[in-house]
Amino acid sequence: MATAGLPKLIVAADSEALAQTAAERVTTRISANPGRIAICLTGGSSPRKLYQLLGSDSWRGKIPWDRVHWFIGDERFVPESDPLNNMAAARATFLDGNAPAGHIHPIPTIADNPDRSAEAYARELQAFYGAESLDPAKPLFDVVLMGAGPDGHTASLFPGFPAIEETERWVVGVPKANVAPFVPRVSLTLPALASCREMLFEIAGHDKQPILTRLLNGETLPALRARSNGETVWLVDQAALPEGIRGPR
Ligand code: 6PG
Repeated sequence: MATAGLPKLIVAADSEALAQTAAERVTTRISANPGRIAICLTGGSSPRKLYQLLGSDSWRGKIPWDRVHWFIGDERFVPESDPLNNMAAARATFLDGNAPAGHIHPIPTIADNPDRSAEAYARELQAFYGAESLDPAKPLFDVVLMGAGPDGHTASLFPGFPAIEETERWVVGVPKANVAPFVPRVSLTLPALASCREMLFEIAGHDKQPILTRLLNGETLPALRARSNGETVWLVDQAALPEGIRGPR
């Protein structure tokens, strides 16, 4: 399908095949970097199968755990013990027991408010990166995983909210969410998320068909505005594709 101005579109048969392709892309990026590797995870339900795969017997051996650092693109402002916490879900699914504890970098949610959390996480990212401003020649992350919400948000960058226009800060507090769960959020900004070799969206299931249709039509929603300075890939399954462009099933 020709999609001028859109990211590279890869269609998988179903959500299982999609997770498999995502795992291949993540491990390929990991293999391409002989040094320290940084992966920015995402929340929500979309990456669950990928996380299960990465922690499974057949995949975990492909990851040099002692060289990989795991960050997260956005967090719900709830304690780590809360089932809504994105990094806690990733930890439980595949990080704990595989990744060295010091290589897991959650967004702290014990600060007084999301803005303080955002400042703390920006400092952590900048200390890891070794600079306070991003150099286009030196990506912060090898891979940034993303999802797309029903309103076209990605990370916790909601349509029409000021956070989406941020050009300086790496991380911002988001006082309220546009969709459930309606808790404040902390989110990396478009420039911080863009600083990667690959930004990989996973968009699967029939529920995603309306928003994927809008995005493919070029609506300038956050999920369309989020682009890597390197490669941006939308990994979608057949069920999420608009009827008109669905391939044979
Ligand atoms: C979050 C996410 C968010 C998510 C999309 C898609 O904290 O909710 O990081 O941006 O990726 O909302 O969510 P689903 O994968 O659950 O559809």
